[in-house]
Amino acid sequence: MHANRDLPEDFRHRLEAILPGQQVLAGQEDMDRYGHDETEDLRFPPQLVALPRTTEEVAAVVKLCAGHHVPITPMGARTGLSGGALAVNGGLGLSLVRMNAIVAIDEQNLQVTVEPGVITQVLQEAVAEKGLYYPPDPGSRGSCTIGGNLAENAGGPRAVKYGVTRDFVLNLEVVLPNGEVIWTGANTLKNATGYDLTRLIVGSEGTLGIITKAVLRLVPLPKKTRLMLVPFRDPQKACEAVSAVFRAGITPSALEFMERDAIDWTLRYVEGVNIDIAEDTMAHLLIEVDGNHAEELMRDCETILGVMEQYDCGEVLFAESSTEKDKLWMMRRRVGEAVKSNSVYKEEDTVVPRYHLPALLAKVKEVGARYGFKSVCYGHAGDGNLHVNIIKGDMADGAWKEELPKAIREIFTYTVALGGTLSGEHGIGLVQRPYMDIAFGHSQLRLMRGIKQVFDPQGIMNPGKVLP
Ligand code: LAC
Ligand code: ZN
Repeated sequence: MHANRDLPEDFRHRLEAILPGQQVLAGQEDMDRYGHDETEDLRFPPQLVALPRTTEEVAAVVKLCAGHHVPITPMGARTGLSGGALAVNGGLGLSLVRMNAIVAIDEQNLQVTVEPGVITQVLQEAVAEKGLYYPPDPGSRGSCTIGGNLAENAGGPRAVKYGVTRDFVLNLEVVLPNGEVIWTGANTLKNATGYDLTRLIVGSEGTLGIITKAVLRLVPLPKKTRLMLVPFRDPQKACEAVSAVFRAGITPSALEFMERDAIDWTLRYVEGVNIDIAEDTMAHLLIEVDGNHAEELMRDCETILGVMEQYDCGEVLFAESSTEKDKLWMMRRRVGEAVKSNSVYKEEDTVVPRYHLPALLAKVKEVGARYGFKSVCYGHAGDGNLHVNIIKGDMADGAWKEELPKAIREIFTYTVALGGTLSGEHGIGLVQRPYMDIAFGHSQLRLMRGIKQVFDPQGIMNPGKVLP
C-alpha cells in the first residue's frame, strides 16, 4: 500500500453518490482535523473523509474502496492514545460518529444495542435512567465513542471489578473489508458455538472490519459508592498496598494510582479543583467500593483502611458528598490531558500481574535515571496497569529520537518478563508496533498475520497498524 497515492479518477464522485448530502469532506482544514487523534503530536491527514449514517452506506463505501484498493482508516472521536485512527497511508478516513443511535435498551435481558458513534458517557447515562450500568469508562468517556472503545478494547477505572470493554460485548455487526455484512455471534450470555469472532474483532483496532452495531451486556446499577484518597510518602509502598487489598478479600470498583506530579500537574491544569496535599506526599491511591448496602461498604472501607495503615499511609480523605466524589474523579480523569499539556511526552500503557506493580514502577524509575528522563506514572493499579508518561523536558532531540526507543524496549522487556504485556487498554495502533516482537514470537505473529490475511487479503483495512 503506497502512502497518499492519488485517489482513482472519479473516486470522489462515486463516493458522493453513495453518500449524498454533506457526508464527504475534502477541505484541507477538515483533513488536518481528521489527521490526528490524542496520540503525542502525530499528524497523518486522510485524503477524504466519509461520514456515513447507515450500515448499508458503510458497506457500499467499503466495496467502492475495495474495488479501487483505497485504504480505509475507521475513526470514532479520535481520542485514542496509540495512533489507531491515524490515516498513515492517506486514503479514506471513515468516521462513524454520525451512526450514534442507541437502538434499543432491552430491560428484560439487561442488554443494549448501539451504533458505534454513541459517546460512552451518553450510553452510561441512558442506561442508568433505567437502573442499569455499563461499567467500562475510559478517562475520555465524555468524548470517546463505543466504536473506538470496541476497537481498542478500552478499560478505565471500573475494569478492576467489572472487566474491560470485551467482557461486555455479546454480538457485533461488522462490515468486512470486502463489503459483506456479518453478525459475529449471538445475543446470549454464553456461547460455545464455533470460533469466537466477537472477541477477535474487539481489540482488533479496525484492522479486520468496521463495527456498525454492538449488542452489549449490562449489569444492575449499584446504588451506593464510597470513595477515598489515600496519600503515601513512598510510591513503592502505595503500589505494594494494592495487591494486599484483594488478598484481604475486597474487590474495589476502582483502585487508581497517581504519583505526586500527576496530581500536582492536574490541579494546576484543571480549574476549580483544589485538594490540600502534604509536602511529603509522593503518591496517592484513589479507592472506590460500590454496592447496595451502606453498612457493607463501611465495613469494606474499614478493611481497606486497615490494609493501608500497614503500608505507611498518611491521613485518608473520604469524599462525603457526590460533589466531592465528582471532584476527585474529575481530577483523576484529567491527569492524561494535564500531563500532555506540560511537555512533549510519550505514553506507555504497561500492564503486569498486580503483585508485580512495585517492581515495574521501580524499573521505570531506574531506566529513567540511566537514560536521563523524568516519568510521571499513574493508572489502574488494581489491574496492574501503569500509564508511564515519559516527559521530554530538556532531553536533547537526538537522545529523544535515538535513545528513548532503547529505554522503552528495556521497560517492555522487563514488563513481559514479569508476566505482563505492552498495552492494557490503549492498544498497539501505530506507536507500539515496533515492540510487538517483545510480546510475541514468530509463531504468534504468523497466526496473527494469517488472520489479517483471511479477513483482509488486499490489506486495505487500517493498514500500518498492530502488526509489525
Ligand atoms: C487514563 C487514560 C489515559 O487512565 O487511560 O486516564
Ligand atoms: Zn487508563
